[in-house]
Amino acid sequence: MLRLLFAFLFVFAVRAASDPFIAKPYLQLGDAPKAAKQETLTLVWHAADSDANWSAEVRKPGGKWAAQPAPTFRRVAVKDIDAHRVYASVLSKLKPGAEFQYRVMKDGEEVFSAKGTARKSAKQPYRFAVFGDCGAGTKAQGVIAERLHESKPDFVFTTGDIVYSNGRISEYRQKFFPAYNSEKTPLTRSTLLIAAPGNHDLSRRDLNLFPDSLAYFYYWNQPLNGPLTVNGTPNSPVLIGPPGENQAAFLEAAKGAYPQMANFSFDYGNAHWTVLDSNRYSDWTDAKLQQWLITDLKSARRAAWRFVAFHHPGLHSSKAHALDQWMRVLSPIFEQNGVDIVFGGHVHNYQRSKPLRFAPSGGVAKNGVVEGEVTLDKNFDGKTNTKAEGVVYIVTGAGGAGLYDPGQEHDPASWKPFTEVFKSNQHSVTIADMEGKRVSIRQVSEDGTVLDSFTITK
Ligand SMILES: [Fe+2]
Repeated sequence: MLRLLFAFLFVFAVRAASDPFIAKPYLQLGDAPKAAKQETLTLVWHAADSDANWSAEVRKPGGKWAAQPAPTFRRVAVKDIDAHRVYASVLSKLKPGAEFQYRVMKDGEEVFSAKGTARKSAKQPYRFAVFGDCGAGTKAQGVIAERLHESKPDFVFTTGDIVYSNGRISEYRQKFFPAYNSEKTPLTRSTLLIAAPGNHDLSRRDLNLFPDSLAYFYYWNQPLNGPLTVNGTPNSPVLIGPPGENQAAFLEAAKGAYPQMANFSFDYGNAHWTVLDSNRYSDWTDAKLQQWLITDLKSARRAAWRFVAFHHPGLHSSKAHALDQWMRVLSPIFEQNGVDIVFGGHVHNYQRSKPLRFAPSGGVAKNGVVEGEVTLDKNFDGKTNTKAEGVVYIVTGAGGAGLYDPGQEHDPASWKPFTEVFKSNQHSVTIADMEGKRVSIRQVSEDGTVLDSFTITK
């Protein structure tokens, strides 16, 4: 018996020692904001900082393997973390919406394989999921990851606070990759995950305190079409504290992504998504930022749907973070440019607004408050009347971190008049089915209960 156990442990140890990955491959959108006849996705994996002959191959199910362009890598060498490489291989010539298989080779030997689905074209129906405030290392986070995986979305979007509490490499390793790319929940190896950065992702900018924070800029590989391009630009996550080795190490490792990837936009299927950095250092009353947003939304005129996503919700009813609603200053721009839904997180529960218009009476006060007037569409019910007059604001921040204000769920008197649904007793995810000019959305809880469902048509 003892021999058997030793034999098992030996095999296990050898396998663990030969695992070539620090983080197993996961799918990213890459710098590909627009749909194409021949789609791409970017496969990312982390490995030791030593030379090896890495390559990736793609095929249609059952077809012939096609070699992909040689992977590139960014070298991350920051204090307290072993230097490692973040490889990126652009998987090319994918057929829109079609399933494909891929494999990763190291020194000529296959070390990983999985399947994925290319971005859907504007004519194909699809499903996406949205969740936020997730990487807390809780049991609920794991359950929500399973709900996400079993709902089989074509892609998943997270509204930020990806890892708690400081957006560090060490936290990604403890609370992100094990939850979303494990043998049990192999979500991100096969399903595209796109992220907006939250406060816990980009606020820890003193690299002398947290040398391995701001990992968002190393580990995500997303479009680089944002408005902020240079280190130190106002309205970007400017580094705090005296320059030194830690800042230099960050700037070297994050080259090309920082600070540009803080904001971006992309198309998926028949929708255009605009992703904003809502952290307090971003002054969204700034004319340049607003102009970028307006230009971006106007450029998406041909999209059937326009979604905007950012971490701090512009309109919500929670007692928690009641003052953190400065993003409502952008509501008129959303309304004038045909935005349908705004997704947020930050507040750890689920809330849905009535379709609404908001007219600010001024700018953002020091405490974050934006005063103004709300006009509600009270006829929309999401069932029989599905034409929304105005923008629907969804808070979906119940992805794993501790829930906020559970007492408010059954206390509608505590909700603002614009709030239609408020679910704060269970963790949950948002699942949307898109078909032409119809979107059907449901909010699914930890135990699979549908907490809310509604449809918007146009
Ligand atoms: Fe947050």
